[in-house]
Amino acid sequence: MKILVTGGAGFIGSHVVDRFVEHGHEVVVVDNLSSGRRENLNPDAKFYELDIRDRENLEEVFKREKPDVVDHHAAQISVVNSVENPRFDAEVNILGSLNLIDLSLKYGVGKFIYASTGGAVYGEPVYLPCDERHPVDPLAPYGISKHTVEHYLYMNHVNFGLQYVVLRYANVYGPRQDPHGEAGVVAIFSKRMLEGKEAHIFGDGNQERDFVFVEDVANANLSALEFNKKIKSSLDPIFNVGTGVGTSVNTIFKLIKQFSGFEGNPVYDPPRPGEVYRVYLDIKKIKQEMNWTPEVSLEEGLRLTVEWFKTN
Ligand SMILES: NC(=O)c1ccc[n+]([C@@H]2O[C@H](COP(=O)([O-])OP(=O)(O)OC[C@H]3O[C@@H](n4cnc5c(N)ncnc54)[C@H](O)[C@@H]3O)[C@@H](O)[C@H]2O)c1
Repeated sequence: MKILVTGGAGFIGSHVVDRFVEHGHEVVVVDNLSSGRRENLNPDAKFYELDIRDRENLEEVFKREKPDVVDHHAAQISVVNSVENPRFDAEVNILGSLNLIDLSLKYGVGKFIYASTGGAVYGEPVYLPCDERHPVDPLAPYGISKHTVEHYLYMNHVNFGLQYVVLRYANVYGPRQDPHGEAGVVAIFSKRMLEGKEAHIFGDGNQERDFVFVEDVANANLSALEFNKKIKSSLDPIFNVGTGVGTSVNTIFKLIKQFSGFEGNPVYDPPRPGEVYRVYLDIKKIKQEMNWTPEVSLEEGLRLTVEWFKTN
């Protein structure tokens, strides 16, 4: 299959590209390199350095490449930036996605895979773990913009027949995550502790997240290629991708401290606005319907991540 991966030079997108290439697919990457890196690009993928807001040039790519599948990972991913600049967040995450959806319909794309978020759409959960039916109440513009696209996808399915799958990721971590970004506590802690620098925890550190290893997330994208169940309701194509387990930031600190050999203690700072206190995802649906399950334990994933940061 020919698959267009947006954000394929980024952290998650590049692992998804690698997995598709390994499985013999032809991959085309669109990325503006705003947070992605050339080094992440798979040498067997064709690369267009392009902004998803640039509709005209994006159309040229669709016209020339005629992808069978679009796997959409390009996004403004910072919760903090989205609170400071919600307009920019909406331009990239909503309007950029609309370009891709329109062009997918126009050029006969057979399936649209959308990387959404399970960490930011449910808001402060009313029950745990959050399944896909949990009320949606984002606490930051980022969660709003990511969720909005799910509605456009369903509308385009009902009215125009677009086939799609939504993967709502938990907190993804692993090699290639940007430690300079706002998101990604594992990358930030790994880098700082390996450099012997103090690591900051926002809030009391008891806040919980569902940490899923990036290779497992790449496998979920592979499973999504195969998913062809008929869509009868907007919930049908939506799948949480996580581990089903909540882990506190303090626990993450302790484990990375152990793997990195760091000797200091965390520095506690005030909590940040827009961030959820405790969230982890119910993953029964994706297990049952896509036969996907996370395979890498937290300890193993963190060990692999710290090892990667040692040499990169
Ligand atoms: N990291 C997580 O834990 C997590 C959790 C839930 C959802 N997601 C989603 O997964 C996707 C990938 O996130 P990531 O963590 O790999 O982040 P990332 O920043 O590494 O990847 C995003 C990629 O998109 C590119 N990009 C950004 N704006 C663009 C634009 N306007 N045009 C073209 N390319 C653009 C960047 O250069 C980068 O390569 C995003 O859609 C994000 O919302 C991530």
